[in-house]
Amino acid sequence: MAPTTQKALVIPAEKEPFKLVTDWPVPQPGPTDVLVKVVSAAINPVDAYVQAQGIPGLVPGYPTIPGFDGAGVVEEVGAEVTNVAKGDKVIVQGTFKLDNRNTTFQEYTVQPAKFVAKIPDNITFDQAATISLCLATVVNGIWGHEEDSTSARFTPPWEEGGTTKYAGQAALILGGGTNVGQFAIQCARMQGFYPIISTASPQNSALLLSLGATHVLDRTLAPDALRAALASIVPATAANPGPITYVYDAFGRGRDAQRLGYSVLAPGGAFVTVIPFDDSSLTDLVEESARKGEGKRVARARAGYTVSGNGALGVEIFKRLTGWLESGAIVPSRLEVVPGGLSGVAEGCKRMLTWDVGAKLVVRIDETP
Ligand SMILES: NC(=O)c1ccc[n+]([C@@H]2O[C@H](COP(=O)([O-])OP(=O)(O)OC[C@H]3O[C@@H](n4cnc5c(N)ncnc54)[C@H](OP(=O)(O)O)[C@@H]3O)[C@@H](O)[C@H]2O)c1
Repeated sequence: MAPTTQKALVIPAEKEPFKLVTDWPVPQPGPTDVLVKVVSAAINPVDAYVQAQGIPGLVPGYPTIPGFDGAGVVEEVGAEVTNVAKGDKVIVQGTFKLDNRNTTFQEYTVQPAKFVAKIPDNITFDQAATISLCLATVVNGIWGHEEDSTSARFTPPWEEGGTTKYAGQAALILGGGTNVGQFAIQCARMQGFYPIISTASPQNSALLLSLGATHVLDRTLAPDALRAALASIVPATAANPGPITYVYDAFGRGRDAQRLGYSVLAPGGAFVTVIPFDDSSLTDLVEESARKGEGKRVARARAGYTVSGNGALGVEIFKRLTGWLESGAIVPSRLEVVPGGLSGVAEGCKRMLTWDVGAKLVVRIDETP
């Protein structure tokens, strides 16, 4: 039986420091929900900038509890739940809500049962906590098919043609060293894209090659040097002036990288970015391309499965995630455990904002003092 109150990490008001509270109410699951005792939770950049910058469009109100990745044990199931049972080990993904029920920087989180996946025996709780949000950022950007999805609308790998129709098409993953980028490489591999070229820091080359990249280019190369390196891997021809049909911009914060990615894209190809397009960085290129009738598509990745247009895909992903982890089709991120449980999150967030962590930062909830 779960207790009625718990430890939780709260941002009390906009831009205020994190505060550990010990008497936060434990949320109650509805008929289609599960209550999960969180064992491990991972820190994401969004936790850091929501605390540091506020982001009114994202935070529904205060106090707010962040935490968008977690893994734990099912404590209670709603009356209509059939896919998991009490005691199952599961992966969960947090969602901002005014009632703070769904986030993971607390001892207990409530999740819709359709958005949890069992953790297979080859994956630890810490590893399981590294997966969901960054994987969702990729799949929602490429496989969503609902009417209001902002995805590139590729055929997902479980549908006919989803692992064959992209074979031999070149993909470019910008910022493959990010956690999001690592899942973008794995998903491109699942679909048969070839070659899969990624930019990253050279120390990440071996990792990214193991995940499915065929070439890793130094992300600090100047745009002209990068363009030349790409041309040497996938030479443009008169018949095929833009041989790269898919670009995923996994860092999203580099104007030069975005412009390069969009400009090397083939007519009819898809450019997917993790950062919303406002979009001064690409306007002239997009307008010029439209004038030429190139039909290049720009898609936007939005991680939340509760975001309009993403829900149906979320169900499909959670149904398959256990199998993908068992088979190695998807592998967890490298991780570092930050000591102190929830009390370590503030320090972890400071490190995230350097964009130089090189691993997923994970906290173990039972280490919270
Ligand atoms: N739209 C959404 O819903 C959504 C959801 C999640 C994340 N995001 C965004 O996605 C991006 C990646 O998130 P993440 O959690 O994967 O980040 P992360 O792993 O914490 O990012 C750290 C990595 O960024 C790489 N990096 C640093 N500067 C870079 C640059 N100028 N160009 C390319 N790579 C650079 C570094 O890799 P190297 O060592 O290879 O340099 C570093 O290891 C962030 O901008 C985040 O805000 C968006």
